[in-house]
Amino acid sequence: MSWHATILTLFPEMFPGPLDVSLAGRALRDGKWRCEAMDIRGFATDRHRTVDDTPFGGGAGMVMRPDVADAAIAGAMAGGETEGDTRPLIYLTPRGRLLDQAMVRDFAAGPGLVLLCGRYEGVDQRVIEARGMREISLGDYVLSGGEIAALALLDACVRLLPGVMGAAESAVEESHSAGLLEYPHYTRPAEWQGRAVPPVLLSGHHAEVDRWRRAQSEAVTRERRPDLWNRMQVAGAQAPA
Ligand code: ADE
Repeated sequence: MSWHATILTLFPEMFPGPLDVSLAGRALRDGKWRCEAMDIRGFATDRHRTVDDTPFGGGAGMVMRPDVADAAIAGAMAGGETEGDTRPLIYLTPRGRLLDQAMVRDFAAGPGLVLLCGRYEGVDQRVIEARGMREISLGDYVLSGGEIAALALLDACVRLLPGVMGAAESAVEESHSAGLLEYPHYTRPAEWQGRAVPPVLLSGHHAEVDRWRRAQSEAVTRERRPDLWNRMQVAGAQAPA
């Protein structure tokens, strides 16, 4: 059985979208993963296909009804699986835990994901609790819905599936997994608009190149992402103080 993504959304036409091209698209056509988008509105029960309602307690915006979201989740889980569906159930929301590469690695190693994309103000909290959903955020900014976050999460997972990435991309992945930002890259020409490539990269000394790259990675991580840098120190990775 290939890695199976089911996306619950009000805009199923957004999938696979950009995941139909490049690496993920080829993997999709090769059957290395499956992408199934289900329209939440199809699980509404009234004449008007209502999926949302005004928030109790007042306030702006609309909230997705728990009964409709729950029916959609049941529909996703019943999607032809023989045994119980063990895929993690994820609700994409700016209130969630921040997605990181360790979570992505975990998800890619599993059977797939069921992703609930919210619109409006959010989803009734009771269905999130009742279904034991994991709330995940892409970052500290607000998207107009979970769909673009779902596409990003799926892209990050799919590239890690066996046989999807070439050897070159795999090496890049390893450097990212080290918990540091990447060193800068250069290619021909060796001089461009009066700017020279760092001489060490033309030296042919592999150990020197490795040392330089490591130092660049550490400097850029310390400067741009003190959070990552401090986490590395705490984790006891070998890094100078
Ligand atoms: N939906 C809206 N904003 C989001 C974000 N930052 N991450 C995940 N899902 C979202």
